Amino acid sequence: SISDPLKVMISGAPASGKGTQCELIVQRFGLVHISTGDLLRAEVAAGTEIGNKAKEFMNAGQLVPDEIVTAMVAARLSLEDAKQKGWLLDGYPRSLGQAQSLEKMQIRPDVYIVLDVRDEILIDRCVGRRLDPVTGKIYHLTFFPPETEEIKARLVTRPDDTEEKVKSRLNIYKQNAEAVSSSYSNTIHKIDGSNSKEAVFNEIESLLSQLQHNKVKLVKSG
Ligand code: AP5
Repeated sequence: SISDPLKVMISGAPASGKGTQCELIVQRFGLVHISTGDLLRAEVAAGTEIGNKAKEFMNAGQLVPDEIVTAMVAARLSLEDAKQKGWLLDGYPRSLGQAQSLEKMQIRPDVYIVLDVRDEILIDRCVGRRLDPVTGKIYHLTFFPPETEEIKARLVTRPDDTEEKVKSRLNIYKQNAEAVSSSYSNTIHKIDGSNSKEAVFNEIESLLSQLQHNKVKLVKSG
């Protein structure tokens, strides 16, 4: 066991592959995956007060107001499992305000990963994406088709995955990307996210293994 678990942020444009890589990172490193998109979609599905507020922003491809999202993330990060196992923050912070909120709480990552993917690829990935509401797994009609007819029949499309809304999400991402990444310039690590899922994961895996190794050494020598 490690007394100083990994703290990882993963960012990138819509459909750059954050969720897909997070599934693999969780399997390999056992970090607690905190995806603001997933948390918000769960609130919407459950019809909570937060969900009802967030829904119109999400469906329009816009950012949900900072205070709603920040309160949600802070609550999740403070739970014991995230402290014990380490965390993988996906889709947060997404604005300078959100990065500053984390800084105020003195929450900083060991590494800030950015998945870099060209626009044309992103649109294709969004439009073909399907989700399995039972397992939460992410599929793509062309690139990662479902394993069985049973799974295929229950797949759903996200309401914000139309070409028009993807373009809006992409614009918002571009408006904020630099301000957010400059908050993490000392730990930023860019990865070419247009490669295969396995190739991207190989790069992330060696990066995180190295970081984990260094942390263990620090703990032992300190
Ligand atoms: P969120 O759910 O975070 O959406 P996003 O950032 O737009 O990211 P996506 O989930 O679209 O993509 P991804 O990078 O996870 O890609 P994936 O792995 O699925 O946020 C949704 C909304 O919630 C926001 O618009 C906003 O309204 C709100 N929100 C969330 N966080 C917020 C915050 N902090 N502040 C305010 N509002 C917030 O992959 C995409 C597709 O490509 C899949 O089909 C997959 O199978 C395929 N694919 C993945 N990798 C590869 C590969 N290497 N090769 C080929 N295909 C691939």
